[in-house]
Amino acid sequence: MGLPTTIAIDGPAASGKSTLGSLLAKELGYLYFDTGVMYRAVTLAVIRAGLDVAAEEAVGKLAGDVRIDVSPPSVDDGRDYDVLLDGEDVTWEIRADAVNDYVSDISVYAAVRKAMTDQQRRIAKENKVVMVGRDIGTVVMPDADLKIYLDASVEVRAQRRYDEMVARNQPSDYDDVLRSLKNRDQIDSNRELAPLKPADDAVVINADDLGILDVLEKAKELVYRV
Ligand code: CDP
Repeated sequence: MGLPTTIAIDGPAASGKSTLGSLLAKELGYLYFDTGVMYRAVTLAVIRAGLDVAAEEAVGKLAGDVRIDVSPPSVDDGRDYDVLLDGEDVTWEIRADAVNDYVSDISVYAAVRKAMTDQQRRIAKENKVVMVGRDIGTVVMPDADLKIYLDASVEVRAQRRYDEMVARNQPSDYDDVLRSLKNRDQIDSNRELAPLKPADDAVVINADDLGILDVLEKAKELVYRV
């Protein structure tokens, strides 16, 4: 048995899964694909179109109509990739508070999930990949060679996300961040379709007391042992 060629990393918001995914993909020379950016890009498109997030049919249709591309970084400003929405660079805009506020509501819709999942499966088929999200090990790549579920308490995650925002000069407030994460956790974990949960065969890592390099070490042990 060689190395795993498909690796799924799931977990709640700000658990460190994107950083882990990016580092692990670099280590292995695989494609790193952060599926959250697709849901964020659709959400931005919905906001820009002035659609009501409760308008399921219109939102679902828009999700099928927009073109989202994730490609290697074209600007050296700390980004891991470019996110293009119908050709426009929206890499930073998808991190705005308005997107955080609505992304989980939109991610509940079946038509949105289908449009995103189809594209993610195509990418998984064509590449050696580390794919990161909420439902990668359960729905998108149920046959992934290695599944990691990265967890941490909501307070630790809120502190991490708050620090990230401050480092990016994005004004923010710890209590607001905490409230927003709790709200997203609640919606992501309780939705009917593809809820956030570890796959039965996932290895759960709790990152409360682990720095990102400790988490990476644990993940590498799993990779080289499979
Ligand atoms: O980066 P952060 O952990 O804050 O979130 P994200 O990974 O960018 O995902 C944003 C939102 O998209 C999540 O809160 C979910 O509602 C949704 N999402 C999803 O439903 N399924 C995925 N595979 C990835 C994200």
